[in-house]
Amino acid sequence: MTTATETSSYRTHECGHIGLSDVPNALLRLARIDEDVHVSGWVNSVRDHGELIFIDLRDRTGIVQLVIDPSKAPGAHAAAEKLRNEFCISARGRVVARHTDLINPNLATGAVEIHVEDLEVLSTCEVLPFQLDDENVDEAIRLKWRFLDLRRQRMFGNLQLRSHVTQVMRRYLDARGFLDVETPILTKSTPEGARDFLVPSRTRPEQFFALPQSPQLLKQVLMVAGIERYYQIARCFRDEDLRADRQFEFTQLDVEMSFVQQDDVLNLMEGLMKQVWSEVAGVELHDPFIRLPFHESMLRFGSDKPDLRFDLEIADLTTAWAGTEFGVARGAIDNGGAVRVLAAPGGARFSRKHMDEHTEFAKQFGAKGLAWFIVEEDGSLRSPVTKFLTESEQTELKGLSGAAPGDAIFLMADTDHVVSRVLGALRTRLIEELELEPQREWQFAWIVDAPLFEWDEDNKRFTFAHHPFCQPTVETRHFLETDPAKVIAQAYDLTLNGWELASGSIRVHQYELQQKIFEVLGIPAAEAEEKFSFFLRALKMGAPPHGGIAPGVDRIVALLAREENIREVIAFPRQQSGWDPLTESPSPVDIAQLQELHIRTVPIAKD
Ligand code: AMO
Ligand code: AMP
Repeated sequence: MTTATETSSYRTHECGHIGLSDVPNALLRLARIDEDVHVSGWVNSVRDHGELIFIDLRDRTGIVQLVIDPSKAPGAHAAAEKLRNEFCISARGRVVARHTDLINPNLATGAVEIHVEDLEVLSTCEVLPFQLDDENVDEAIRLKWRFLDLRRQRMFGNLQLRSHVTQVMRRYLDARGFLDVETPILTKSTPEGARDFLVPSRTRPEQFFALPQSPQLLKQVLMVAGIERYYQIARCFRDEDLRADRQFEFTQLDVEMSFVQQDDVLNLMEGLMKQVWSEVAGVELHDPFIRLPFHESMLRFGSDKPDLRFDLEIADLTTAWAGTEFGVARGAIDNGGAVRVLAAPGGARFSRKHMDEHTEFAKQFGAKGLAWFIVEEDGSLRSPVTKFLTESEQTELKGLSGAAPGDAIFLMADTDHVVSRVLGALRTRLIEELELEPQREWQFAWIVDAPLFEWDEDNKRFTFAHHPFCQPTVETRHFLETDPAKVIAQAYDLTLNGWELASGSIRVHQYELQQKIFEVLGIPAAEAEEKFSFFLRALKMGAPPHGGIAPGVDRIVALLAREENIREVIAFPRQQSGWDPLTESPSPVDIAQLQELHIRTVPIAKD
């Protein structure tokens, strides 16, 4: 992305645009040899060669070299002698071609330098807590000094990329008649499966606002209000454990449309992603995105956000081995469970100890055990359990898993759910451990046809899989009465390279159906009326059929920036612990403030 150059009393040109021999660009003021220029920025480095002083001056566009000769500019030289890294300075001088021996090919402006006539220190900088080119600074230190951290090119680039992404999103939706509508931050609880952040009310003692987990209910109400096409770059708040792809507050591109069906939303979003990738990354995504039914995704990849850059697939042996006498498989099949396998290319090199580690790993995900086999060069299977398998079972094991000599095969027998979870986690681990080469770079996939409800074994009741406002499919709606586990939602997730990027659904727009769904979730009509009264009231007033989606902006930008943690693409994120070392929040407040809010805190008992 290029930015227009603004001249000001501090500069005629930006550092990165000095002496560039690019094609003339109407937006950029490019300084040429012999031109008098005025530049401002930060001292990236300063080298005093006795006579001449060399300064690498940096602004957000790049670095240019300043040269100060005491015989020509004694005042500037005296000022330059006192400079240290990260002083903010301004300099005037002339652009000069460097001698061919002195050209720096690593710098875009490396063929030129500025011979300084005047130099002004705009502000000084204390001793730095870390060097800006140090890539291994502790995260807490980076965040405490975020304003220095963000001076790094990588971080500026990430924020620039983020701004570009949201700009393309806005343009795409504006062009299609979407209205940017803001919804409140001080609001009422919106269930998305996380804990709410609450804000006490001063004027209504003992009452609380909730920060929105998403604008879900209000965007639906906007559809009842006849807006028809809504979007918002919306800040959402969820009190849940922070991870690489999760912060307490994050940003969604929240979208909702009336009079649409699932395909309309998917097509719109596919177009948007293609536009973003094209404009921001220069990548043309030609193919339609894959659509993978949820059930199939769990079966083949053990995940609802499979990393499809890799072809590694789980294979099912349950049917082929229906008559097996191998104890663990027999037990699982008799209990209505599954037997599945995953081949690990090149896994024959795993030692016995390594196999034990894989088993321990599987146990963390709920496995009781994990069987493994090595396919020897002659095609035979080496494993402590080969002896329990018939010849034909061994052939099926090799055939269905797709394993070749030199590979390993992992086998799991348990309930369908546990097998998927374990082999899915193992798949991710094997991809990393075996350093498998991805077969594709950007593999988007829609996960469709997910169940509306999940059975919560601990509390012996149904919970919603996505949120309680998803429309059941016409074919499965009748199961609401008889077998809720079989109800499929008109819901869709967009996944990319193992990340969930976006979630959405066609919504329930009929009051009675919505109440029915609350009922299955164990929320009696009266309680639903109390919790969601405004929303249910709206559903009774001519609600149009509608649906929408919300891509996570932080995750999209992180993937485009090739960052592994969304913190790297958020200006002021929190540490994993939820602490912000920059502002030092959360923090205690004055007693007077608490009193005003009618709040008394209870100290945590120390053991
Ligand atoms: P969902 O809860 O799946 O759906 O969120 C949509 C997308 O938001 C992003 N996301 C997050 N990003 C960073 N940190 C978090 N803690 C976090 N939580 C979610 C993800 C996710 O795919 N109201 C529905 C959307 C709808 O149905 O229209 C919703 O919020 O990228
Ligand atoms: P066991 O009968 O528990 O001694 O296990 C026999 C072999 O099967 C061992 O190699 C176990 O690691 C393996 N195993 C145990 N439970 C399972 C399971 N649920 N799925 C696959 N293999 C298992």
